[in-house]
Amino acid sequence: MDEMTTRTDLVVVGAGVAGLTAAVSAAQAGLQVTVINKGRRWRPGVPSDTATQYAQGGIAVVDPTAAVDPADGMDSVDRHLADTLVAGAGHTDAMAARAILVDGYDAVTALIGWGARFDTDIDGRLLRTREGGHSVRRIIHAGGDATGAQVQRALGVAVRRWIDAGRVRVLDDSIVTSILMSDGRAVGVELRDTDGRDARVMGSSVLLATGGLGHLYAATTNPAGSTGDGIALALGVGAQVSDLEFIQFHPTMLYSPGARGRRTLISEAVRGEGAVLVDSKGRSIMNGLHPLGDLAPRDVVARAVHAAMAERGEPCVYLDARAIPDVAERFPTVTAGVRAIGVDPQRQLIPVVPGAHYLCGGVVTDIDGRTSIDGLLAAGEVARTGLHGANRLASNSLLEGLVMGRRAASVAEDAVRETFSSVGRFDPPISESRPVLPRHVLQDAMSASAAVVRDASGLGGLAELIDSAQVRRIRSIRDVEDADLTAVAAAVVDAAARREGSLGCHFRSDDLASEVRSAEGIGATSQLAVSRR
Ligand code: SIN
Repeated sequence: MDEMTTRTDLVVVGAGVAGLTAAVSAAQAGLQVTVINKGRRWRPGVPSDTATQYAQGGIAVVDPTAAVDPADGMDSVDRHLADTLVAGAGHTDAMAARAILVDGYDAVTALIGWGARFDTDIDGRLLRTREGGHSVRRIIHAGGDATGAQVQRALGVAVRRWIDAGRVRVLDDSIVTSILMSDGRAVGVELRDTDGRDARVMGSSVLLATGGLGHLYAATTNPAGSTGDGIALALGVGAQVSDLEFIQFHPTMLYSPGARGRRTLISEAVRGEGAVLVDSKGRSIMNGLHPLGDLAPRDVVARAVHAAMAERGEPCVYLDARAIPDVAERFPTVTAGVRAIGVDPQRQLIPVVPGAHYLCGGVVTDIDGRTSIDGLLAAGEVARTGLHGANRLASNSLLEGLVMGRRAASVAEDAVRETFSSVGRFDPPISESRPVLPRHVLQDAMSASAAVVRDASGLGGLAELIDSAQVRRIRSIRDVEDADLTAVAAAVVDAAARREGSLGCHFRSDDLASEVRSAEGIGATSQLAVSRR
């Protein structure tokens, strides 16, 4: 092994909820872990730039020991599963979903054991809110609407203990450029740091936990690092990837004219506590469109908002949160973001638009995080476990990251026990030169033709644009991200073009059958918003 190559048991690519949960769980089980973090070194009090950090609403989890809620009745995993299946528009893998939801309580209990603190009533019982698609109040939260920040902080502290114990090593400011393969098995990764230096980390297992791809679009709720890296790495080694057309747009991303990049999310929990969507004349957007009204599943609300903007020729709609008492206290993160554009949510309407938020598909895994490639695991947003179907139920993502991070760690533990011969040779990593479209060009085109509503002609134009990408030499982390975005855009556009019918958060305006279903009232929950145009 040369000086640029190190060896570990588990290589974790990504430092959000799934990656750090896996790292802590594997370290607890006695494994040596190397975490590769595209962001800067974590320090107490300094926010990490992960999607986990920015998650607001909370964690959807059923407490089997909880008393019956007087308003909602008894919650149960069956009820949570039923809500998940409805949101997923018939595309969910019910067996996988049940297996993940059932483990949620233990995973959250472990997180609390590692120091996470959630909001409670004066008797110490966890407070619960509601979001779109949930039939009961089941979402636990922290700091009002800073749940992700709390989860990221607690995991950061837990990982730090294992770093101090010599069990975990974190390589910051580094991006993985290739998965190293030997005899059809993933055996490590090649990475590049901000100074352009390359290194290799070999391991018995490699876990992709890189999050999503929101920066395929001009504006997104995702942090800057959500550039589809894990999907591109998986495609690079031929791992099975699926359901990439199901990109969820959150109905309420803060609007300000011309803004690009990461934008403030206005949590669905704000609607859960009574806020309503209205147009510039104060007319309800969701009235009469769905039995759950403003708390309909996210795909339905996003389409309704999109349709209302198109119908009225306006650049945004509004969220009216004025009736929520002490909105600033209950939603401090939202309030700070909204105030930053000069709006007081207690007295004024909040301008919102749908924003790229979450990839429901991804690298296909079984319910333990194994991909189609031996030695390669995936967990969190990058993975397609089957839990989310065609449209994720709100606040199921942190839950999935916690559950699947733990499961992936246990697969990694088994891999260490297997006889693992040392790797003599591995396949050459992917080329130093890759096709790249300028980021803004790609983002604008994706926003125009592969967002809330798609059609064959727009997707065809996008495919041609992506085909025209020039091959460039890849030097910096930014170059790697741009190449990843281009590769992933091609796969997303191909998946969206192949699925000619509308389903969940993939809506085709040229799907004539959807108009018929809509007129007949079939599948009305997912079609109404657009049929009204
Ligand atoms: C939200 O707080 O509205 C987002 C939660 C999620 O994406 O599940």
